[in-house]
Amino acid sequence: MDSSLGLLLVTITFAFIYIGHAQDQEGFISLDCGLPANELSPYSDTYTRLSFSSDENFIQSGKIGRIQANQESEFGKPYRTLRYFPNGTRNCYNLSVEKGRNHLIRAYFIYANYDGFDINPNFDLYLGPNLWDTIDLQEQVNGRRAEILHIPISNSLQICLVKTGTTTPFISTLEIRPMGNDTYITDSGSLKFFFRRYLTESENFIRYLNFN
Ligand SMILES: *[C@@H]1O[C@H](CO)[C@@H](O)[C@H](O)[C@H]1NC(C)=O
Ligand SMILES: *[C@@H]1O[C@H](CO)[C@@H](O)[C@H](O)[C@H]1NC(C)=O
Ligand SMILES: *[C@@H]1O[C@H](CO)[C@@H](O)[C@H](O)[C@H]1NC(C)=O
Repeated sequence: MDSSLGLLLVTITFAFIYIGHAQDQEGFISLDCGLPANELSPYSDTYTRLSFSSDENFIQSGKIGRIQANQESEFGKPYRTLRYFPNGTRNCYNLSVEKGRNHLIRAYFIYANYDGFDINPNFDLYLGPNLWDTIDLQEQVNGRRAEILHIPISNSLQICLVKTGTTTPFISTLEIRPMGNDTYITDSGSLKFFFRRYLTESENFIRYLNFN
């Protein structure tokens, strides 16, 4: 075999092993909220190659919604379905995490007039009993991300959507990544996302793109 071809094959094999390993990491949770039970789950998102699963095993309440068909091309598959909560003030996901370990927790909220009312919702997001964020889509009509670095105090974590006015809470995706114990060490508690910069001359992003 031509030796340069041999090297190329070895490189490709390592690339696949690396990608496969990255997705199998223990504790990674990527939920496509509202993905119907009869659709393939988990599936690999074509854009990020992250493996997304339906959220149905992590929450008992809520209904499934789908963004307006004419807006589907603007969003990747994980953001096209959502779960909304017409009943009750407080609806919670219950996720399995590692007590005492730092976790990155991220949620996306893409309204895209899924209910046909064309009224951007406004509601609160809680981690257990603690207010995490206020999701005001009247201010950010194209969608909103919430992100926090948080150390759970038990092996289960409640992530709750709380109705605060007349509009109905909903969620598009929910992602959890256990972090190394030596990352983002603080004395002050959880760290809410402020901004992120990728300092490079490259035109390419490292791993995935964000919507805003
Ligand atoms: C909401 O409550 C009504 C009446 O109690 C019930 O019939 C319905 O199944 C509930 N829907 C959801 C999504 O929980
Ligand atoms: C959350 O799930 C854990 C098991 O993973 C269970 O022990 C706990 O009771 C659940 N909490 C709620 C509020 O459902
Ligand atoms: C991180 O810290 C937690 C709590 O002290 C411990 O249980 C866990 O094994 C540590 N994980 C790693 C990867 O060092």
